[in-house]
Amino acid sequence: MAAITIPTELCEKLRNAKKVVALTGAGISAESGLATFRDAQTGLWAKYSPEELATPQAFIDNPELVWNWYAWRRQLAAEAMPNPGHQALVTMAEKVPEFLLVTQNIDGLHQRAGSTHVIELHGNIHRTKRFDDNQIVTDWEENGEIPPRCPTTNSLLRPDVVWFGENLPAGALAQAAIAAEECDIFFSIGTSSVVFPAAGLIGETLRHGGLTVEINPGETPHSSAVSFVLRGPAGSVLPELIQKTWP
Ligand code: OAD
Repeated sequence: MAAITIPTELCEKLRNAKKVVALTGAGISAESGLATFRDAQTGLWAKYSPEELATPQAFIDNPELVWNWYAWRRQLAAEAMPNPGHQALVTMAEKVPEFLLVTQNIDGLHQRAGSTHVIELHGNIHRTKRFDDNQIVTDWEENGEIPPRCPTTNSLLRPDVVWFGENLPAGALAQAAIAAEECDIFFSIGTSSVVFPAAGLIGETLRHGGLTVEINPGETPHSSAVSFVLRGPAGSVLPELIQKTWP
């Protein structure tokens, strides 16, 4: 793939920006080997139906299937390594006075790359909670029962991720929306921008006249509205952007 040209104007704006928000999606972890959701051949939703696996009803109907699917993905996430795209956002956070990283990803790779403050809109696959009341549980007995149960209440355990039809974690969306409204630059990275409310965050920046940047090898519904489109994989575009902005 030909090298991406990073506009000099964008680098200047980024160098002078006081507040920056980056929203990431599954695409930023693609180069770590984790499947996205909607890419036609490899996307997880090409092989599995969200209704069968990512809803509370799916868990009620077949908790073992759902637990095992997440256990498989948890294993893949644990084996994956952060890539240069994740690392570039650690550097950006060090350079920009106020930087907020907001992710739809549940894989924990931003944190493993070294990002310290990450708003996780869709939860984290490495955390587990009670199905009955959403309380986080860290210890349980592995006695072969799948899913395992909470040792205190006997509730079935489930991953601490947001399923279709569920609310996002309290406060996370509000904090992200305020940051998107106030920021000088909003980066939309590796997301198809079709799942709301996350996909609506960029609208806050657009409404308030902030600069918007899309980093994605493919088109999204926001492509025509953003200030800059950087068409390429995050793992090479982001490091180039950092290098050109802070040489
Ligand atoms: P999608 O699978 O919908 O979109 C992935 C995006 O990443 C696409 O636009 C790709 O073009 C792009 N992409 C692929 N490779 C890339 C690369 N190397 N660098 C940059 N971009 C790349 O994933 P999300 O937008 O994250 O929610 O999906 C949003 C939500 O839908 C997920 O959080 C999940 C899913 O259902 C829940 O499970 C609640």
